[in-house]
Amino acid sequence: MTDRTTGTATESATGTKSTGSTSRARSASSSRSTRKPFLYVVVCAAGNAGDVGTLIDAAHADGRDVGVVATPHALGFIDRAAVEATTGYPVRSAWRLPGEPRPLPPPDAIAVAPATFNTINKWAAGISDTLALGIVCEAYGLGVPIAVLPYVNGAQAAHPAYALSLERLHAMAVRVGSHVPHAAGTNGAGSGFRWEEALELLPPKLL
Ligand SMILES: Cc1cc2nc3c(=O)[nH]c(=O)nc-3n(C[C@H](O)[C@H](O)[C@H](O)COP(=O)(O)O)c2cc1C
Repeated sequence: MTDRTTGTATESATGTKSTGSTSRARSASSSRSTRKPFLYVVVCAAGNAGDVGTLIDAAHADGRDVGVVATPHALGFIDRAAVEATTGYPVRSAWRLPGEPRPLPPPDAIAVAPATFNTINKWAAGISDTLALGIVCEAYGLGVPIAVLPYVNGAQAAHPAYALSLERLHAMAVRVGSHVPHAAGTNGAGSGFRWEEALELLPPKLL
């Protein structure tokens, strides 16, 4: 159920054949009239990443199918087997090779949760050096709705790049969650991170 960990980015990161919502590649079996909105949950290596099942369960209850894309570092923070069993899809973390089938259908919406300082800053700067970043960078041009739930500590948030990155994401119509940075030196446990906010920011809708 894993994809390859090497290879170059020869595909559209989200699996679309070209830009525009009318030309989206869907599998032959997914009828427009019956399929559910497909949510990508992009998981970064933040302290609460292991609880991503909370968002997956909430999205299922909200009538969506879910595929998880993890940054390479986040793979060490999540229970990959459990996520794959719950979603029914492989966790993606690296690009596929030419000729390999697309492991996930294209997304109708994307939730980046939890989003690290690292990934937020690279995303805003247009750096695409992980599959997760490739997907979210490209989603802007494709018009895929995206929400981001940052999970950073106060020391990270104090860096001037962070406010500029959030400002740029706002300008890109990314819907930014309300979680406030947790205290530096803690993992933020008990800081009230609301996974469901991603779903509130992204009402279920087919593209
Ligand atoms: C146990 C642990 C907890 C971490 N928690 C956070 C966090 O809550 N937020 C954050 O921005 N970075 C956190 N980091 C740092 C990130 O893991 C690190 O910046 C990493 O490079 C992020 O990679 P990614 O954005 O590609 O997932 C944590 C690191 C460790 C080892």
